[in-house]
Amino acid sequence: MTSSDVSDPAPQPRATQEQVDAARHDTKLAQVLYHDWEAESYDEKWSISYDQRCVDYARGRFDAAVPESVQRELPYDRALELGCGTGFFLLNLVQAGVARRGSVTDLSPGMVKVATRNGLSLGLDIDGRVADAEGIPYEDNTFDLVVGHAVLHHIPDVELSLREVVRVLKPGGRFIFAGEPTTVGNRYARTLADLTWKTTVQAMKLPGLGSWRRPQEELDENSRAAALEWIVDLHTFDPADLEKMATNAGAVQVQTASEEFSAAMLGWPIRTFESTVPPGKLGWGWAKFAFGSWTTLSWVDSNVWRRVVPKGWFYNVMVTGVKPS
Ligand SMILES: C[S@@+](CC[C@H](N)C(=O)[O-])C[C@H]1O[C@@H](n2cnc3c(N)ncnc32)[C@H](O)[C@@H]1O
Repeated sequence: MTSSDVSDPAPQPRATQEQVDAARHDTKLAQVLYHDWEAESYDEKWSISYDQRCVDYARGRFDAAVPESVQRELPYDRALELGCGTGFFLLNLVQAGVARRGSVTDLSPGMVKVATRNGLSLGLDIDGRVADAEGIPYEDNTFDLVVGHAVLHHIPDVELSLREVVRVLKPGGRFIFAGEPTTVGNRYARTLADLTWKTTVQAMKLPGLGSWRRPQEELDENSRAAALEWIVDLHTFDPADLEKMATNAGAVQVQTASEEFSAAMLGWPIRTFESTVPPGKLGWGWAKFAFGSWTTLSWVDSNVWRRVVPKGWFYNVMVTGVKPS
């Protein structure tokens, strides 16, 4: 199968006010509406690509999470991604030689559509399916590797989902979830992002900056969808709690690692600024600057701040573990 399952529900890219109101009391409906709304513009919004830049980024997260002995024995044969979004993590991991083939899954039909389309256009051996991470629609012992990026914090019962991950892994198979917000990191990231949004929207009202302003209806739609963002982001994590959940779910060799301290303090304002200006306005020079600064500060975080700052103060936490053989 090379495209999303024919029985999968259709994407709903435009949420009505009634749907948004209903979603306030139904987090899974909120996930679908919010992420269906984002799907077609998601890669641009988050500067996601499938070239060397993001291949290296995805591989970097994988290598930071797993022991070196694992890195020497790649590739895994069959991989699954939960909450794949547009396929950023798994498609780039396959391109990086981490897995031969994979299944991309997400609760949002719009995301599965884009992820399978991206996989197809890259010529990768990828299939896609709409799936809830709390009830993974695959047989026991199916996958050699399960991955996720920025998904656990959206799932109501994270431990249940990790139990499902262990169930669908083959014995000895590994899972890696990266890009999860820590409790402390989320606090400073949100504050900086809010400040950037308010300042940029006000600044764009200044005379002469008309071409930098997004049309009002787009900003209104953004604000309506942004209201859902508060509902879809369910958790932040303390690394020790995440380790406990993975162990309770039946995994062994559980480890967490964290990264991005000063890099997150720069990264969040940059990403928020990018989402307030018209698509394509900033160009490749900006993307290079943003990625270059992020890379430099990540180096400072790994080589300087890591020695003095507690693990839980970094913005991102990742967790890996193995299904017992
Ligand atoms: C922040 S996005 C991350 C997307 C992608 N992994 C990335 O890093 O670009 C979170 C994704 O998780 C999906 N999601 C939320 N709740 C889910 C659930 N219960 N089961 C599966 N996917 C879910 C959303 O639809 C969304 O696509």
